[in-house]
Amino acid sequence: MASKRRGDLLETLPNGLSGQRPKGAQLQEILEDFVATLEPGTPLPGEMLIKKRLKVARGTVTQAIDELVAKGLIYRVERSGTYVAERKLRQPGTLTSFSEDMRAQGMTPGSIVLDQEVVTASLIIARQLEVEPGTPVVHLQRVRTADGEPMALERSHLPAPRFPGLEEVDLTDTSLYETLGRRWGVQVASAEQWFSAIRPTDAEATQLGVSPDQPALLFQRVTRDPAGRVIEFARSLYRGDRYEVHTQLRRPEGPPEEPAALTPEPGALST
Ligand code: GLP
Repeated sequence: MASKRRGDLLETLPNGLSGQRPKGAQLQEILEDFVATLEPGTPLPGEMLIKKRLKVARGTVTQAIDELVAKGLIYRVERSGTYVAERKLRQPGTLTSFSEDMRAQGMTPGSIVLDQEVVTASLIIARQLEVEPGTPVVHLQRVRTADGEPMALERSHLPAPRFPGLEEVDLTDTSLYETLGRRWGVQVASAEQWFSAIRPTDAEATQLGVSPDQPALLFQRVTRDPAGRVIEFARSLYRGDRYEVHTQLRRPEGPPEEPAALTPEPGALST
């Protein structure tokens, strides 16, 4: 049945390429447009069929498919073929919680708590939380899920004296930000966030259910209350195959600003 489906799909591709532009570039564009019209999980026609339909060399097809795999638009299953990948979820450029982000995208947020305890602040953590090194802080490590599927691995540190008993609250499938508001009347008001692409460790990849070769997005966030006091320093590792960052950009008014000083501690996920 899958092969019939693949064959039917082929009919929607053009019957050959123009001689005007390099074939590889044309083919890639065509396949990218084609994939964008298909549902995640749809099997793509095999390379030989695409080669025949578009009258290009097999190597050109393989290369175009490789590019789409590298872009995360499709994925290969050994001895089966290629399939349309899940659409990427958007990490908005606004101060929202993981739970809010997932609900906004029609998914049910969840959390599996891996660690929740009071520890003493290391130098890096203390600097970010603007407390003295050695201050008690709550360390919280969670796998965040969307419709039950792991999406991110989050490690947060919060000043323990500010949230007494937080280490004992059951945060399974519960929003941290909502809990801070409900229990301690603390609202999240502003945050600074910086992110980079990293390769997860084997353990992190296992927790996220991805291959260690799959790059991940590391978001580091310092969150403040309305009075400007730091509430949380979080390092969240998001699956690179399922996430993209979405920001609205506007031209600055007036002359360009001086480049900002380097953001705090690039640091790895582990402390
Ligand atoms: C985002 C932030 C984290 C924050 C979390 C709170 O994922 N990157 O810093 O801890 O939201 O989410 P929730 O309130 O759903 O627990």
